[in-house]
Amino acid sequence: MTHPLHPILVHFPIAAWFFATAGDIASLFLGMQAGWAAGVLLVIGVVTAIFAMVAGLLELAKIDQQSDAMKIANQHMMLAMVSWSLYSVSLFLRLDGAALVQPSGAAILFSVLGFISLCATGWYGGRLVFEHGIGVRKKQSD
Ligand code: HEM
Repeated sequence: MTHPLHPILVHFPIAAWFFATAGDIASLFLGMQAGWAAGVLLVIGVVTAIFAMVAGLLELAKIDQQSDAMKIANQHMMLAMVSWSLYSVSLFLRLDGAALVQPSGAAILFSVLGFISLCATGWYGGRLVFEHGIGVRKKQSD
């Protein structure tokens, strides 16, 4: 397959996490229903991000180790892992056993921090594609 899988798969965690953070903020005004929906979206985001990460690692292996693109790819990967960790902490902070409860202030804070990190992750991912042609051009530049 010539088309990379990573850009297809990233839409799932990005959408799930974006709406999870929006749901968390909405839960401050709307209460438990929005908080519960945010929790479900967090689970979807945390699980689908693992598939996106595996596909990302396959793309990473194709980048020249000495290139500028590899430095950006490493920053992108670190930020992706930070995003995953922040959202995972947010999820665990709202679990009571296996049940989702109303997110606390700390859970919402981790969700917002996860979203900020997610934006930075996407920014670096975009630089890989649009500045360096990773996954797009046959011959990839530095
Ligand atoms: C181990 C973790 C990851 C690695 C090694 C990785 C690697 C890469 C690479 C090599 C690219 C450029 C080539 C391509 O688009 O396939 C890329 C692009 C991108 N990545 Fe990742 N990635 C990882 C995780 C994630 C996660 C978790 C997200 C989002 C939740 C994400 C979002 C993006 C986005 C938005 C782009 C730009 C896609 C485009 O504009 O077409 N990445 N990533």
